[in-house]
Amino acid sequence: MDWGMKNRLNRLIKPDGRTLFLPIDHGYFQGPTSKLEHPGETIAPLLPHADGLFVTRGVLRACVDPAEETPIILRVSGGTSVVGGDLSNEGLTTSMADAVRLNASAVGLSIFVGHEYERESLLNLGKLVDEGLNLGMPVMAVTAVGKELERREARYLGLACRIAAELGAQVVKTYYCAKDFDKVVDGCPVPVVMAGGPQTDTELEVFEFVYDGIQKGAIGVNLGRNIWKHDYPVAMITAIRAIIHDNINPKQAQDLFTTTKNAK
Ligand code: 5RP
Repeated sequence: MDWGMKNRLNRLIKPDGRTLFLPIDHGYFQGPTSKLEHPGETIAPLLPHADGLFVTRGVLRACVDPAEETPIILRVSGGTSVVGGDLSNEGLTTSMADAVRLNASAVGLSIFVGHEYERESLLNLGKLVDEGLNLGMPVMAVTAVGKELERREARYLGLACRIAAELGAQVVKTYYCAKDFDKVVDGCPVPVVMAGGPQTDTELEVFEFVYDGIQKGAIGVNLGRNIWKHDYPVAMITAIRAIIHDNINPKQAQDLFTTTKNAK
């Protein structure tokens, strides 16, 4: 692996081999998602706790201070919306030249294994990896399930993650599943980070799945809504960060959440 690629990955993945990516890219197909209407305000208190920010170029340029030091993962796929046709019909929306211009540490795109536009999304991944290898830019493949949330089970996720790795992604983002998540990670020869999915009823549910996923080999999370939609987002990200980097368990995370929430 070339120096530039290694350097970018080392900015994102910390010396303990773990990471916490904060995604705020949801607007690229959902529009002004609740709590992300003003992304700059939402992320200001959270960025000091994040190892990477997953964001589109539009929000990056409009809402994020260029003096910000948190590494950027640029969302470069899109072209669909929740009110349009098939969500899987994505193309590449941002050139690698712009990713370099924006000093991104990685680029990310969705792949839609098993969906109508599976082939196109996988070819997009191959193309992006080729360009990334040329320029030393890591690619994070997002194993998207569209509206079919029931696809979040080990057999499907394992298949999608492995295909992403086979096509050259340097990092794969997938969903956690309670059963056989270790098989998902084992079958993927590159690092796996977990998305959070829709907001859960309790914070403990989040702490439990993040903890379990890390025990089963994930290197961290790319977790958005369960942080920034929460009434206490700083307490959430603090507790999740400690699970990832300080190896605390869910009960300790709950205690840390409560202490942080109650602090002045
Ligand atoms: C949205 C994404 C998000 O980055 C991903 O789903 C993680 O966010 P959340 O934890 O809110 O699910 O790819 O397109």
